Amino acid sequence: MKSDSVLPSICYGGDYNPEQWPEEVWHEDAQLMRKAGVNLISVGIFGWSKLEPQEGKYDFGWLDTVMDILYKHGVYVNLATATATTPAWFVKKYPDSLPVDRNGVRSFNGSRQHYCPNHPHLLEHMKTLVRALAEHFKEHPALKMWHVNNEYACHVSRCYCENCARSFRTWLQERYQSIERLNECWGTNFWGQRYNDWEEINPPRKTPTFVNPSQELDYYRFMNDAIFKLFAAEKEILREITPDVPLSTNFMSSFKPLDYFSWAQEVDIVTWDSYPDPREGLPINHAMMSDLMRSLRGGQPFLLMEQVTSHVNWRDINVPKPPGVMRLWSYSTIGRGADGIMFFQWRQSRAGAEKFHGAMVSHSGDDQSRVYREVKELGHELQKLDELVGSRVKSEVAILFDWENWWAVELDSKPHNKLNYISIVEDYYRELYKRNIRVDFARPQDDVSAYKVVIAPLLYMMKEGEEENLKRYVRDGGTLLVSFFSGIVNENDHVHLGGYPAPLRDILGICVEEWVPFAEEQSNFLQDGGETYRCTTWADIIRLEGAEPLALFGEEWYVGSPAVTVHRFGKGKGIYVGTRPESRYLGRLMESILKERDITPALQVPAKVEVTERYTDKERYVVIVNHNAHPVRITLPADETFLNVFNGKKHDKELTVKGIDAVVLKKRRRT
Ligand code: GAL
Repeated sequence: MKSDSVLPSICYGGDYNPEQWPEEVWHEDAQLMRKAGVNLISVGIFGWSKLEPQEGKYDFGWLDTVMDILYKHGVYVNLATATATTPAWFVKKYPDSLPVDRNGVRSFNGSRQHYCPNHPHLLEHMKTLVRALAEHFKEHPALKMWHVNNEYACHVSRCYCENCARSFRTWLQERYQSIERLNECWGTNFWGQRYNDWEEINPPRKTPTFVNPSQELDYYRFMNDAIFKLFAAEKEILREITPDVPLSTNFMSSFKPLDYFSWAQEVDIVTWDSYPDPREGLPINHAMMSDLMRSLRGGQPFLLMEQVTSHVNWRDINVPKPPGVMRLWSYSTIGRGADGIMFFQWRQSRAGAEKFHGAMVSHSGDDQSRVYREVKELGHELQKLDELVGSRVKSEVAILFDWENWWAVELDSKPHNKLNYISIVEDYYRELYKRNIRVDFARPQDDVSAYKVVIAPLLYMMKEGEEENLKRYVRDGGTLLVSFFSGIVNENDHVHLGGYPAPLRDILGICVEEWVPFAEEQSNFLQDGGETYRCTTWADIIRLEGAEPLALFGEEWYVGSPAVTVHRFGKGKGIYVGTRPESRYLGRLMESILKERDITPALQVPAKVEVTERYTDKERYVVIVNHNAHPVRITLPADETFLNVFNGKKHDKELTVKGIDAVVLKKRRRT
């Protein structure tokens, strides 16, 4: 891809399923799209059975017509490779392509994504289709981007069939080379699990009790790799036939089965889907995921490929976004690095499981609905933001995030089996979000030297090289904050011996002697100076080895023992939080760290107002999103004048933002 962006403008549009509609509707659609400012549409995602109705017989004619119509209306196409659902003829021919769960139960077709990623004929059929499609459409002027498959692994992230068992054995041979090495890395002397031969090894199917955790962990790795291979094969063909067309596959943000950090290195631009529940109020998790998705490719802007205008159909109760909220959340995403706002889907389906899912055009089919009006307003407004395309976000804080660690920490047979990685990460993120501090995510092995503060929540697994990396970071002056249950195992899920958290003890100046996981109804409290704060989930029994206590436990048999500590290491500091403190405490701790490291938000604003910034070489853009129903007055920095990008008005000294409203300001950067 020549530049970071797909279009020179903010991409705006959604998934489009013309195959569900007669041709006259395609013309209406294109007109409505143009009217709404739509410039990019994802087409053909579930199109395999229409594009190849019989094996080897292709029908691209209808898609030619659709793409011609769209192009005539100034709408470009994000063309799907259509491999997301195998057609019924394929299933009939290869019934063993249907996936099998860990209990040995095979799924049927009749919904979508019903394929085993390791089926020997799947890849060959997918490749033939993709090649034919790419050859046919390579010169089409509407083609702007490839949408490979769709939400890989969304419904079937693991299959346990015999084909998978065979592929797993091959994968293990490549990884371990010898059966002895595998026995060592899986710790098979435990419970007499030793293997003499690769053929004796199975996927971690249903077992009488806990399966070997190292085996389970490898199955996560193996399935991630197996599904990735499908993507890589399509990518190779598309690169060969259309080397200049950028390609992506839509991620699902905090989707556990796929290691998006590694996947992201293979796409041209990160695209992802997000469906926060409007009942949650502030979209904190969505903001966190936007920051994570941006971080996957080192801060490159991304496309929000799917969100919904109003309501989904797959929750127990599908509450719509109230008026204005879709726009608001779109701006929250833009402020965090989106160069595109897209929806699932363009036109609400008439039939099928998603007929009650919201869309840009509702069942009324016209331009009168509240939702379409909002879609149109946003589309036109976004055209004023084209200058933002390609601009970057800058952060001074990073949170460490690692998929393999996530897999490992949530495996069973732990001291606490209800630890939820994402929610512990979110504990820390939330405090930064509330204070409008920009955050990136990084892997524990990444170079984090550019950040003033690095936070490592629940970094249970520490792999080779990570200890050295973090030591270097702190030694050179960084502030590292580590939560409980970190630095416990290596990449095989074997304990780092020598006192917890062995790889972090030097940095933190502590030794954790025992763990006290709490029952759900239990809590303790922290004493910090004269104040007390609630803490839940977990208490570490900490022995100080040079660290100073910042807070002590307030009760139980370990009353008075350190709960939060700080330690100087080289030029930096290691802070340890040996419990799960309430937000009031974490917020306070965070504020003291931010103050010490001189990290400040772009603007001081009232609660529930998001402020984010994006930079080009010359301009600084400030995106302000007021989630309150009431207006807020914001003081602007003294002697700075900002330009309102929507209406060209100048603002200095102060600015009022209406309730449920967003404003984008810009300021020329001093050089
Ligand atoms: C996504 C999927 C879309 C649609 C949408 C509904 O997961 O990619 O095809 O099903 O969810 O919310």
